[in-house]
Amino acid sequence: MNDERWTVAPKVIDGLMSDTLAAGFGMASDPLTCSSLRTLATGKPGGRFLELGTGTGLSTSWLLDGMDPASRLTTVDNDDALLCIARHHLGGDARLEIVCSDGDAFLLKQDGSSFDFIFADTWSGKYQLLEKALALLAPGGMYVVDDMLPQPNWPTNHANKVEHLLDTLSHHPDLHVSKLSWASGVVIATRRA
Ligand SMILES: C[S@@+](CC[C@H](N)C(=O)[O-])C[C@H]1O[C@@H](n2cnc3c(N)ncnc32)[C@H](O)[C@@H]1O
Repeated sequence: MNDERWTVAPKVIDGLMSDTLAAGFGMASDPLTCSSLRTLATGKPGGRFLELGTGTGLSTSWLLDGMDPASRLTTVDNDDALLCIARHHLGGDARLEIVCSDGDAFLLKQDGSSFDFIFADTWSGKYQLLEKALALLAPGGMYVVDDMLPQPNWPTNHANKVEHLLDTLSHHPDLHVSKLSWASGVVIATRRA
């Protein structure tokens, strides 16, 4: 099996990728991971989606491509220069809300919110305030993280944080968890009803 064959990327990808490279953004999500986000997003019609860590909007564009017209996505990043690129390419999509905020501050404000899908692609909701993010998941909701396999840009001691996260998710009483040693290393968890 060649897992890169037959994958048709969202229409905006070429322009988005070109602006991402021009901006020198080096933390872009892996295209295979992004393709799995789109596949999973399609399984949540009418879903409320949350992405922590927009970057320039690459993973955002794949999520939007999988979402149906009734779904809504809120995406959060603290770097407005990156968000400008996301706004330029994706801002016309009425299903999308782009929030410039510290991820922790955003999570701490979410009293009463509930999401059917969370892609945690920054420190917040992954290595910080994990339980706060998981508490926002509706029953049956999916929580997805990537970059679980060693990456060249990992800071010192990051491997220990990854191990701790994997351990916590794997033993979490409210979750069923699958770990995929594929692409950058993906974990998909679903909240039990
Ligand atoms: C791995 S990148 C996200 C990549 C993006 N999902 C993509 O598809 O290319 C992590 C992002 O987290 C953002 N970030 C870092 N610290 C943050 C914080 N405290 N609050 C919100 N976002 C933060 C960075 O600006 C960066 O865009």
